[in-house]
Amino acid sequence: MTATGAKPPGATDEASAAEAVREMFDAIAPRYDLLNHVLSANVDRLWWRRTARRFRATLANPDAAILDICCGTGDMTMALLKRRPRGARPILAADFSRAMLSRGAKKFGGPGVGARKADQPYAVPLEADALHLPLRSESLDLIVSAFGFRNLANYEAGLREFHRVLKPGGQLGILEFSEPSGLLGKVYALYFRCVLPAIGRAICAASGAYSYLPASVGSFPPPPEMLGLMRATGYEQCAWQPYTFGIAGLYTATRAAVA
Ligand SMILES: C[S@@+](CC[C@H](N)C(=O)[O-])C[C@H]1O[C@@H](n2cnc3c(N)ncnc32)[C@H](O)[C@@H]1O
Repeated sequence: MTATGAKPPGATDEASAAEAVREMFDAIAPRYDLLNHVLSANVDRLWWRRTARRFRATLANPDAAILDICCGTGDMTMALLKRRPRGARPILAADFSRAMLSRGAKKFGGPGVGARKADQPYAVPLEADALHLPLRSESLDLIVSAFGFRNLANYEAGLREFHRVLKPGGQLGILEFSEPSGLLGKVYALYFRCVLPAIGRAICAASGAYSYLPASVGSFPPPPEMLGLMRATGYEQCAWQPYTFGIAGLYTATRAAVA
């Protein structure tokens, strides 16, 4: 197992890697939604919806305790919310970038927000580090993370922390980019490494972020290695479902029902 964690340029250890990631997302937050939709041609919406559909049974349970970690500007959270019944327990939406989270918080609704009805499903924003969640052990039924896990300074520590806060039998879903193989992989690599950073630079002043994106996908463990890491950290029923020819994919796993 070689996986460790994200290594943004200039980072020398896990603390400086986390700080560099947080600063980068704070910097791109104002343009994040626009860039996301332009760069993915809106396919990201399908991926969020598909991920939410995968967990529809848990989302339909009004008492389920659910965390969207690395929620950013909250589009994954919103896809999860669409499947919550009226009067459901609010989803916790956590991120360590205040600038990203504050944009998400404007979408989340909640009692007294806008014209929403009191029993409308909503999310509660929480400023928190994925590696040190301010949550009780064995308290969650479902943790979802979309395009955030890859940025953690230590993947194993992230999986352990999620395992700690999941109830026995609780589910984990990690939506991440990956690198498709074959000819499509070569074409995609060209887009990802050359075209995407150029568009990123044109739209957003924090140009380094869109060079970091392909680099971070390239150094993220490929599915067999990531699944091995999940099993080694104590998860069961570990699986990877490729989305859109493997450009992205959903990792799913369960914390063993009996400890
Ligand atoms: C690419 S964005 C994804 C946002 C959103 N989930 C989406 O699908 O658009 C990654 C997010 O992960 C957050 N993040 C990265 N490392 C984190 C950590 N250790 N703790 C909490 N949030 C983190 C960043 O601040 C950023 O908002």
